[in-house]
Amino acid sequence: MALIQLYHLILLCLFLPFSAYADNPIGYYCANPFNAGATQARINTVLSDIVAHASIGGFATSSSGRAPATTIYGLAQCRADVSSQDCSACLQDAAKALPAACPHLADARIWYDYCFLRYDDENFIGESDTGYSLILYNVENVTGDGDAFDAAVGEVMRKARAAAVAPGTGGLGRETTGFSPYVNIYGLAQCTRDIGELACGQCTASAVERFADFCVHRKGCRVLYSSCMVRYEIYPFFFPIDSKRSSSSGSNSIKSEDEVGSYSMVILSP
Ligand SMILES: *[C@@H]1O[C@H](CO)[C@@H](O)[C@H](O)[C@H]1NC(C)=O
Repeated sequence: MALIQLYHLILLCLFLPFSAYADNPIGYYCANPFNAGATQARINTVLSDIVAHASIGGFATSSSGRAPATTIYGLAQCRADVSSQDCSACLQDAAKALPAACPHLADARIWYDYCFLRYDDENFIGESDTGYSLILYNVENVTGDGDAFDAAVGEVMRKARAAAVAPGTGGLGRETTGFSPYVNIYGLAQCTRDIGELACGQCTASAVERFADFCVHRKGCRVLYSSCMVRYEIYPFFFPIDSKRSSSSGSNSIKSEDEVGSYSMVILSP
């Protein structure tokens, strides 16, 4: 945990129902104050551009302005397993929420379950960013052999990461493994599509390394960076929903709070 001393650390407790969870932002990041009205106009231009394009293809980048004036760069991406309808709804929420959450700030990022949106007055596109992170861990631990569980999580994440860097996957890797007759582990890795395969591999490796600090024996955990995210759970959370393996409710839809549990969030900022 020595590394953590380098970081400003904020601990929050989340007790959100999972249904709201799919719609509400997981977190924000805001920095770099600006005054010029022209900058706000460029932010608006970039936002409408990336939301329109990413709603169709799941990913978009854009910029507005030209040196020496401030240029705004933007990136929007949905998790590659999410439908275009859910993607579009998520991005539209994000484009409304982000300028409101970060007024007069030129570096703004917002994370949802289904999408990620960012704009900045520095050109971040193509640069892997593992500086600021949101970490969510289930407040409950697995029952039984926690060390064996963590080893199985490591293997699931290794395979999910390998899939994420493979060509043609949209930076997405999904993996399911039976840990016991009653417990499956679902793992997901997702990179933003502007970074290359090597950077995706490094970003997701760095994210999975955080599991050792925050996710030991946890039933579920995720690490969200600006260029990639990794997550595992013991319930299905990615599409297509694993209905054959999902719990007794027989529902293919999003799980209720009782089934999912509660998460705590840690924010690490460099
Ligand atoms: C879960 O396990 C971790 C690591 O062994 C431990 O630090 C933590 O106190 C446990 N939490 C609960 C709620 O049992």
